[in-house]
Amino acid sequence: MTQQIKSFDDYKAVYQKSVEDPEGFWAEQASTFTWRKQWDKVLDWNFTEPNVNWFVGGKLNITENCLDRHLETRGDQVAILFEPNDADAENITYTYKELHAEVCKAANALKANGIGKGDRVCFYMPMVPELAIGVLACARIGAIHSVVFAGFSAQALADRIKDATCKAVICSDYNSRGTKNIPVKKVVDDALSMDCDSIEMVLVHKNTGGELNMVSGRDKWWHDEVDGQSTACEAEEMDSEDMLFILYTSGSTGKPKGVVHTCGGYMVYTKYSFENVFQYQEGDIYWCTADIGWITGHSYIVYGPLLAGATTVMFEGVPTYPDAGRFWQTCEKLKVNQFYTAPTAIRALMAQGDQHVTKYDLSSLKVLGSVGEPINEEAWEWYHELVGKKNCPIVDTWWQTETGGIMIGGLGEHSPMKPAHAGYPLPGIQPCLMDADGKELEGNDIEGLLCVKYPWPSMLRTTYGDHERCRQTYFSAFENLYFTGDGARRDKDGMYRIIGRVDDVINVSGHRMGTAEVENAINEHELVVESAVVGYPHDIKGQGIYAYVIVSGDIEDEDAFRKELIQVVVKEIGPIAKPDKIQIVSGLPKTRSGKIMRRILRKVASGDTSNLGDTSTLLNPEVVDEIKDTALV
Ligand code: PRX
Repeated sequence: MTQQIKSFDDYKAVYQKSVEDPEGFWAEQASTFTWRKQWDKVLDWNFTEPNVNWFVGGKLNITENCLDRHLETRGDQVAILFEPNDADAENITYTYKELHAEVCKAANALKANGIGKGDRVCFYMPMVPELAIGVLACARIGAIHSVVFAGFSAQALADRIKDATCKAVICSDYNSRGTKNIPVKKVVDDALSMDCDSIEMVLVHKNTGGELNMVSGRDKWWHDEVDGQSTACEAEEMDSEDMLFILYTSGSTGKPKGVVHTCGGYMVYTKYSFENVFQYQEGDIYWCTADIGWITGHSYIVYGPLLAGATTVMFEGVPTYPDAGRFWQTCEKLKVNQFYTAPTAIRALMAQGDQHVTKYDLSSLKVLGSVGEPINEEAWEWYHELVGKKNCPIVDTWWQTETGGIMIGGLGEHSPMKPAHAGYPLPGIQPCLMDADGKELEGNDIEGLLCVKYPWPSMLRTTYGDHERCRQTYFSAFENLYFTGDGARRDKDGMYRIIGRVDDVINVSGHRMGTAEVENAINEHELVVESAVVGYPHDIKGQGIYAYVIVSGDIEDEDAFRKELIQVVVKEIGPIAKPDKIQIVSGLPKTRSGKIMRRILRKVASGDTSNLGDTSTLLNPEVVDEIKDTALV
């Protein structure tokens, strides 16, 4: 295990060292791993192209570090502890030895089907152990995984398959969530009917069983391909900077982009951050409730915990099934020590009443984590008092798909805590705040645009197939800085408080959504002339989606029309992008150059029409009154 930080003074000293000598610091961390060949140079970088290389010339396989390395010391310890959707069903466990064997079998099955180093493999699966096994099997043979959250629509899945020209899709038959049995393979079939020419194979894991259409020559059963394989599979030797995975995420413009992470740096950073933020100790049971379809699941269900030799819980179900006590019931049953979830889940459960929490014994809990969006004070207090009984530190972790790992956050009990403040940067992370003119804001008690000055090992390297987009999006706003897209405050003690996105990205229940993406989907409806989407404060989701829509002709039944629009969005993106409110308008406020004035739309959507600023310079100031008068608040 890495040397863990053990006090706030310790943190300050380590942080200082990590900033004064980043290369020395990360080389020391990297030396705790198994490398086939040691790196020649720790870091080679510039933020102008950008071109960032960590552990240059180093050779490794991340699965040797997640699995093989643990076989002697903890082969019989549980690696994955699976909690099925059905609360009464037995837990399924995989020890490190068993997980190693299953990953090798799956890796051999992929190889037998012609998949090898550099090939892209798409996953569209529920939270079942085979998802983690499949992902690791790809990493074992050097194939690049691209996991698509199984709530996305066929269209969204097809877009992602095509963008990465994936060779195979691995999916389940059905997804068991709460009382629902959701057809997963059917979505894959629909996606593949949309010109996904690169796909040669669909590997189907039988989860719940049920009606299925298997296309001969293309579709194969996981059990037929995997079960008979050897439990040994030599790991492919990878370069530090070879791609490990692609994960799609939304931005302000255009289609979602494939964020690329590479092997060496991602490995070093996810383990280091996992061990320090959660203060994981030998024998602890750690549970992150995220889905592996998001970065949190990649870094802190699969890679970070397994690299650290932890026991990581994987949960198939939903927080409200069979009732709103499921999380706490499971914490009691599995004696969970570290629990990591999202503010939206906390708020939703809080609304269901304290009795769901108080009836369970939560004394095993040591650290509580929060991720994905700002946590409001009320939710923070509830989490701290009711769940943690004021004994557990709350680590509010700020990071992004692009950062690969936690950037700002507490280190277990060793950091000062303040509700709604993520806190201090992790060792090796050099954040700064900028003003809109590109000047760094020095000192404390200031607010600005959050950037990072220096590379860290798990940062994105590119956006798949479009490096220029990566440069434009993250490295062009400020010279020599990585721009996060977030605004933040540094308080008088130097603690960071994340305010939220400053671009056209909204955060709905911790899920990132590009407003342009939702608008494009809405515009697919034949009666829609133009639309504008903004976020507005939502009690449970953090932000809700508010759509302003201009239609052609008269709509007879507005409710029916709204339902149709929602259906279009579900079809184009998925249920997570459903607008909460749809206001039909005759025009959108535009500047003389034709740009939509979103500032006005955001204010109206949030119910604040008191001060809309100067609207006289608009091309069409008259629509502002109409929008205000018919607002859905
Ligand atoms: O706005 C920030 C918000 O989520 C964005 C990143 O979203 P995504 O790439 O989907 O990754 C989410 C999980 C790491 C950020 O730009 N965000 C994430 N964590 C926090 C947060 N906002 C406030 N506090 C956080 N702890």
